[in-house]
Amino acid sequence: MTGLLPGMKADELREKYLKFFKSKGHAIIPSASLIPENDPTVLFTTAGMHPLVPYLMGEKHPGGKRLVNSQKSIRTTDIEDVGDHWHNTFFEMLGNWSLGDYFKKEALGWSWEFLTDKKWLGLEPQRIYVTVFEGDEDAPKDEESIQIWKDIFKTVEIDAKEGDRIFVYPKEENWWGPAGVTGPCGPDSEMFYDTLREPCGDSCEPKCSCGKYVEIWNDVFMQYNKTADGKYEPLKQQNVDTGMGLERTTAVLQGHDNTYETELFQPIIKEIEKITSKGFKDDNETTRLMSIVADHIRAAVFILGDEKGIVPSNLDQGYILRRLIRIAIRKLKQLGTEENVTVQISEKVINTLKHIYPEIEQNKKFIFEQLKLEEEAFRKTLTRGLKEFEKMCEDKVIDGKEAFILFTTYGFPFEMTQNLASEKGVEIKVEEFNEEFKKHQELSRTASEGKFKGGLADHSETATKYHTATHLLLAALRKVLGDHVQQKGSNITDKRLRFDFSHTEKLTDEQKKEVENIVNDAIKNDYEVKFEEMTLDEAKQAGAVGVFEHKYGEKVKVYTVFNPNTQEVYSKEVCGGPHIEKTSTIGYFKIKKEESSSSGVRRIKAVLS
Ligand code: SER
Repeated sequence: MTGLLPGMKADELREKYLKFFKSKGHAIIPSASLIPENDPTVLFTTAGMHPLVPYLMGEKHPGGKRLVNSQKSIRTTDIEDVGDHWHNTFFEMLGNWSLGDYFKKEALGWSWEFLTDKKWLGLEPQRIYVTVFEGDEDAPKDEESIQIWKDIFKTVEIDAKEGDRIFVYPKEENWWGPAGVTGPCGPDSEMFYDTLREPCGDSCEPKCSCGKYVEIWNDVFMQYNKTADGKYEPLKQQNVDTGMGLERTTAVLQGHDNTYETELFQPIIKEIEKITSKGFKDDNETTRLMSIVADHIRAAVFILGDEKGIVPSNLDQGYILRRLIRIAIRKLKQLGTEENVTVQISEKVINTLKHIYPEIEQNKKFIFEQLKLEEEAFRKTLTRGLKEFEKMCEDKVIDGKEAFILFTTYGFPFEMTQNLASEKGVEIKVEEFNEEFKKHQELSRTASEGKFKGGLADHSETATKYHTATHLLLAALRKVLGDHVQQKGSNITDKRLRFDFSHTEKLTDEQKKEVENIVNDAIKNDYEVKFEEMTLDEAKQAGAVGVFEHKYGEKVKVYTVFNPNTQEVYSKEVCGGPHIEKTSTIGYFKIKKEESSSSGVRRIKAVLS
């Protein structure tokens, strides 16, 4: 790429972004965890708006109505694209939000100012192209944004015409959300930067995937709620949700047409070059393989470093983690490396971002241990598995049973077998594998995202009851087992709650009964639920428990469950809400299962009736 490029570093971009929006009245909030709390519809936080869903739906945020941050995100749907220049499994998303405050004019105007003003990014206006929603039966064409863009481009003497500078596309291109199955969503307007590459043909325009136009920012006008039956209802407030990919924009600013050439990836790539004695730019295939290794190990480091204790497994997040690590190992093998090297590579990942996300440094030991275990286990079966795979390929087709054997006996994630088959031009029976899978009830819910309906994300009444029930449960567990019990994770659907907490031993039947009785008494006594806003320190002093990862910024909400007659406090937790107002509406609480979740963490599944 050519042109006037300031060559800004990622750290500077991140800092400038936060500073710019702070100057426009936004409160800087910290990145939330990569593992969503109380949203069972997705496995990972996929965008900055994701942890903000309750506030987009109308809950009050302690930081106010204008927020900005850099959010750790994971998109596994892009997993097949990784290895091209612009997709990363783990990425940082810079985002600013209006929670029922400003709308299109300010959002687009500020995006433009930040992108083009020399004080900020100083990108060339003539290289910016934008897209807007064309309208359908769910929502009208976004004429307002088209007019705003025309006015903006006029200020730099560009006559922005539809189909030339402003492109109008359907939902597939210009609609964002919900993050899971249900929840806030709306039409969006995207900004692309022209890399000045030759167009790939006459129809080359922003939506084209040839790489000439790179999407760098997305302003979503979240004014709808998608319900479980697929309808789009207007939200009670008009929100703005924007997202700028840090890696992509850094690459653009530095004149690279590849995110892997930025300082966010280069130290990792250099280590892979050293290990494999090959060069990143030797040929396209080497570039691709090294990019995948760097990307997958980086994502694995962030999942393992997220303090939720996710470990490689055959279920949910653990399966995605396993898949990332194992695919990276196979790619390393393709690059000629037979030694255990993921720990060595992960050290470089940690060094690139520990100053922004200190948790990856703090959890270094855990990250190294888990990578080592997984790599040792997988390398033992990989070579034999590949031989077996070759044999299976002789008849030019991998059937469901064979793929299943590769999975159970040799530990090949299915996606890896799919990948191997496609490289060899061999057919793979996906449906048959799924059947096999179901029969063995092993991985019933693994890689599928969007698997439950009706979590807290859609604010359904039942899910809200379950949410309040988790507060009652945590308080009961602390009463029965002791104050060492902390929440480690929570996942709610409208059918059950799943609650992870720190405790080493299995609960006895008596303990389970006692916990149930305490929760059911709290329900019968019809306690009230209220919230107050305070600083995190005040919350701690007030004896509130909760996930103290500073995720709500300066001020937090503290929910108290109390006896309205005596004012006696039953539970006090830092939490974003929402909750029901009186416990008697919860119903009857029953523990269905109590089991180990990971080392030092127990898991309870419970239902309400
Ligand atoms: N949620 C939107 C996106 O991910 C904007 O942040 O593109």
